[in-house]
Amino acid sequence: MSKILVTGGSGFIGSHTIVELQQSGHDVVVVDNLSNSSPISLSRVEKITGKPVTFKKVDIRDRNGLDQVLSENPCDACIHFAGLKAVGESVEKPWEYYENNISGTLTLVDVLRNHGCKNIIFSSSATVYGDPVQIPITEECPKGQCTNPYGWTKSMLEQILMDMQKADNEWNVVLLRYFNPIGAHPSGTMGENPNGIPNNLMPYVTQVAIGKRPELGVFGNDYNTHDGTGVRDYIHVVDLARGHVYALQAIERKCGLAIYNLGTGHGYSVLDVVNAFEKVNGVKVPYSIKPRRAGDIATCYSDPAKAQRELGWKALYGIEEMCRDSWNWQRQNPNGYEQ
Ligand code: NAD
Ligand code: UFG
Repeated sequence: MSKILVTGGSGFIGSHTIVELQQSGHDVVVVDNLSNSSPISLSRVEKITGKPVTFKKVDIRDRNGLDQVLSENPCDACIHFAGLKAVGESVEKPWEYYENNISGTLTLVDVLRNHGCKNIIFSSSATVYGDPVQIPITEECPKGQCTNPYGWTKSMLEQILMDMQKADNEWNVVLLRYFNPIGAHPSGTMGENPNGIPNNLMPYVTQVAIGKRPELGVFGNDYNTHDGTGVRDYIHVVDLARGHVYALQAIERKCGLAIYNLGTGHGYSVLDVVNAFEKVNGVKVPYSIKPRRAGDIATCYSDPAKAQRELGWKALYGIEEMCRDSWNWQRQNPNGYEQ
């Protein structure tokens, strides 16, 4: 595999994945409309890898734009990160989420196949399991009822890609179901760059730690978990990024359809994360208990054995490194990529 089209490549997970791709000898072409990211992330990638990144500011719903990118840069496979991802916003703006994520992906896969590129890795999510019927969650666990339009776009797009692969077995489709990516590149030069008030736990924690926000609200302490707060499978973004390089190897082996959980298999509660963060970094994270957040589940963590068995991938970093690197990024870049 040599040239990879990376959609959404200037975003959080995409930019970290490009580092791993370049460091394992792949060339990349990035398309992103910059609706939720800064191109500065890609200059940071170039600094780390010493290799140039080809970047085109193109929306994946723009058929002609994509067509031109692929005509000029024939690609062997696509890693498809581009999409809107804010759960709460998707409840307010369902049409915008379905239109961006579903129409965008339909246009992308049509242009890809017109260019003879029938290899795709799709960023799916543990959210497709809904309130999971078993813990830890294996890939055989049935998909569930999503609690928001964002989740449904992931579930529907998985179905669309599976049906396309079934109808045309020249396609190789890898669905990667991410658990909760946190952390940042160990260099401290790349990380998560949320707009406005963070929705997710770790960026909120780092903004409290640096004094941008007074305290963390912990959403509920009456769940059926060891300390009453929600339990998740946090995974270091560099481990998640590495998972895509392994998934490309599966495509090279002509995997057809393959589905993998990318998680660590360990569940940590909100208070476990706060305590680990304070201990590792020697900073305080004041918090108070707030009501439960609508749509949240008590516990969600993976059984990552299939990815290890079939891909040879497993997460290498633990919660301490995740907390250390998230803080390192926040401290060195208090305003994210904005100077
Ligand atoms: P991100 O917002 O940082 O990156 C997504 C990128 O896609 C952004 O750079 C954005 O500008 C771009 N984009 C959005 N719509 C586009 C369009 N129509 N055309 C071109 N570019 C477009 O998000 P991320 O955290 O890096 O997530 C990457 C992917 O992984 C997303 O599909 C997301 O849904 C999925 N995912 C993320 C998480 C998570 O917790 N971060 C968990 C599970 C799955
Ligand atoms: N939480 C707080 N306070 C906050 C933010 C979060 O207590 O300010 C709690 C949540 O209630 C939950 C845990 O921290 O118990 C994790 O919440 P996140 O918002 O960080 O993550 P979620 O598990 O809710 O969802 C994330 C992504 C989804 C993705 C899912 C995959 O936002 O897009 O992981 O597992 F689908």
